[in-house]
Amino acid sequence: MLEELNIVMLGDVIGAPGLEQVFVKLNHLKKKERISLAIANGENSDDGFGITQQIVGSMISYGIDVITSGNHIWSNRDAEELLNDYDYLLRPANYPEAAGKGYFIKTINDKKIGVVNLMGRYFMTPIDCPFQTLNKLLKSELKNCDAIIVDFHAESNSEKQALAMEFDGRISLLAGTHTHVQTADEKILPKGTGFIADLGMCGGIDSVIGMEKEGILEKIVTQTTVPFKPSKDNCKLQGIIANISLTSKKTNSIGRFSI
Ligand SMILES: [Fe+2]
Ligand SMILES: [Fe+2]
Repeated sequence: MLEELNIVMLGDVIGAPGLEQVFVKLNHLKKKERISLAIANGENSDDGFGITQQIVGSMISYGIDVITSGNHIWSNRDAEELLNDYDYLLRPANYPEAAGKGYFIKTINDKKIGVVNLMGRYFMTPIDCPFQTLNKLLKSELKNCDAIIVDFHAESNSEKQALAMEFDGRISLLAGTHTHVQTADEKILPKGTGFIADLGMCGGIDSVIGMEKEGILEKIVTQTTVPFKPSKDNCKLQGIIANISLTSKKTNSIGRFSI
């Protein structure tokens, strides 16, 4: 019987340079760390904004099992169709009325692993309450899961910490995404929930949150509209590896990487 699970979660994949990092590095990492479940945030994979059908296929072929997202999922015109077609492609569950779903249950050796995508409301679109949405999901669709993993796509560290603390002991792990800046606060909360405020990103980190700095600097300095594209400078694969108990649902260990 499978009693524990090694998982990898990757921060927002930024365009082609980010996808290349997943292609080049994920397979080796999964073998080395005996990973059974790989989750990545794909909201920026299409040249920085959104995701396409082709990229969904690429990410799956590179070893990703579940693709989470966030505010940029809607950038692609085909988003609704993709979300309806692929149940392992998620949008935040707390969008009030949207295509697709905000959770996916992956069965591994008869164990049910629930993956949930939620989005914050501080400095972001005021969608439904992530606390109430998660509470409802845990009491209904995710009630019988052996582990629950949450990608909380949010700007504010306080909101990320608060959600993790509120659900400490009821979810296995909460990892933040969206800022594209990896935090150094990975830990296990008192009742066993693993936590990191932000996984970071996959792509060129010598940049402004994954985009070529020249264009972003011009935009910020001049306050004009300047096109920008994903950076290729100093590319990294960033995220966490965690070991989760499928008997207690708790996180046994959590470690961050930037490789
Ligand atoms: Fe992002
Ligand atoms: Fe985002």
